[in-house]
Amino acid sequence: MKAYALSRADVRSGGAKHKVPAAAVTLGGVMEIAAGAVPSPNIWNTPQIYEIENRAVDPDGLLAEAMWRIRPWDGATVLDLGCGTGFHLPFFAERAGRVVGVEPHSGLVSGARRRVEGLGNVTVRQGSAQAIPLPDASVDVVHARWAYFFGPGCEPGLRELNRVVRRGGTAMVIDNDATRSTFGGWFRQWLPAYDPEAVERFWARQGFTREPVLIRWSFGSRADLAAVLGIEFPAELAARFLEEAPGLEVDYAVNVWHRGY
Ligand SMILES: C[S@@+](CC[C@H](N)C(=O)[O-])C[C@H]1O[C@@H](n2cnc3c(N)ncnc32)[C@H](O)[C@@H]1O
Repeated sequence: MKAYALSRADVRSGGAKHKVPAAAVTLGGVMEIAAGAVPSPNIWNTPQIYEIENRAVDPDGLLAEAMWRIRPWDGATVLDLGCGTGFHLPFFAERAGRVVGVEPHSGLVSGARRRVEGLGNVTVRQGSAQAIPLPDASVDVVHARWAYFFGPGCEPGLRELNRVVRRGGTAMVIDNDATRSTFGGWFRQWLPAYDPEAVERFWARQGFTREPVLIRWSFGSRADLAAVLGIEFPAELAARFLEEAPGLEVDYAVNVWHRGY
């Protein structure tokens, strides 16, 4: 259902005025944002708050366990697609032979490069899911977390995965499960037109299997929770959700969609 993909991208960008840019955004001849990037105001505008969110996500390591069960990456070439500021790159670098982060936003590419300075097996490239700057059949494991692959509309990126992933490789896409959990309920209040069944049908048609994982957000303070709600939802909803969530924890259902090649 294309409307869903557009509405998610539009809402994430703060309104229907902002569409996925067809051409790269350049400043003084330097590519600021690669063509085809889905506006991501949470991390583009406030990477320091997104860092707080990343630190709060899944303190029990359930996602890492689920991914490792699906496809271990020891010695493998891992692509983190839509890597943002590279939060997950050091984690993959511990076991992988080689890790490549790809990210369309130049400021985030710089941040990711700073993060992995000194890690000899990690590189960060500017690019997008629709034009992955890697050769054919060069990747064993792809990780894309809350980045571009939101269901219908991401077919160009899936075609690129088919090109860059080696036979025997695996792609893993992490996104919200809006059918359950406190966060899932909030997500549906924010995007009432979101249709989880249509999204599930889409991934099944593309040959992906669902691995549901119930994680939690765990914050150090109410101020951190409030700040993160403020970058994820419109102000009015963020204020209401903060009242609905006592304490420092929020249960959060996600899916790991995965497919072998
Ligand atoms: C919500 S952030 C998640 C960042 C990172 N995966 C993480 O978990 O920390 C979404 C990221 O996807 C990137 N992105 C947007 N459009 C993309 C595209 N077409 N291809 C690859 N990445 C994209 C954004 O620039 C942003 O860094």
